Amino acid sequence: MRVLVCRSASAAATAAARDVAAFVRARPRATLGLPTGRTPVPFYAALVGLHRRGRVSFARAHAFNLDEFAGLAADDPGSYHSYLRRRLFDHVDFPPGHRHVFDGAARSARRQIAGFERTLDRLGGLDLAVLGIGLNGHLGFNEPAGVLASRTHRVRLSTSSRRANAWLFGGDVRRVPTEAFTMGIGTILAARRIVVLVTGSSKARLLRRALQGGITTRVPASLLQLHPDCTVILDRAASRHLAGGGVS
Ligand code: GLP
Repeated sequence: MRVLVCRSASAAATAAARDVAAFVRARPRATLGLPTGRTPVPFYAALVGLHRRGRVSFARAHAFNLDEFAGLAADDPGSYHSYLRRRLFDHVDFPPGHRHVFDGAARSARRQIAGFERTLDRLGGLDLAVLGIGLNGHLGFNEPAGVLASRTHRVRLSTSSRRANAWLFGGDVRRVPTEAFTMGIGTILAARRIVVLVTGSSKARLLRRALQGGITTRVPASLLQLHPDCTVILDRAASRHLAGGGVS
């Protein structure tokens, strides 16, 4: 695992965007797993900037969202689909057929999940998963638990995750859906490369457990330690509890 500590959250976002752009330049047909949350907002802004300056094209790449709230239609302003459209898809050149996003409102969850996995398999799995880490250590919406599911599945969200996502629903946690779809931990860890972006002091203690503690399904992000090609990009605030200043 490589850990890169940047001087600010915006420098970390820019470093992550440059890394992803370089990856896609080298592999124009890359399949990308894409995160949501507050942390990647400046990352997407930087990526859009690189695209506008002609430094990266997604015309042959494929995007897969990591997760989505169950019960929300694509055009619901709180959905991750809307998030990705607003922050990325509306500003770059992924062809519409290359934007693989869960339909949170699908009538058959089983069919939805099978279709998502089939498309991902057909395209050879993820080349690059870009990840954030939830305050409780989740990856995608793989919540801390005794047992984690390997493949795409439907999950019940923890109170912590619903609170962390309330900002998408006018700050009202009661409006945050109670369930979600998420890529499984196996699908995420099977990505050939992983880039994780974490910023802010609120995640500093969690990061120490995730990156330097024991590997446990109670901190799903700790499983990243098993990945052979994982780069973690942090700002100073997030890195402050890491032993050795985050160098590993
Ligand atoms: C959500 C998403 C995760 C994301 C996490 C981090 O819960 N399901 O995929 O990593 O948020 O969010 P934030 O960046 O807002 O802390």
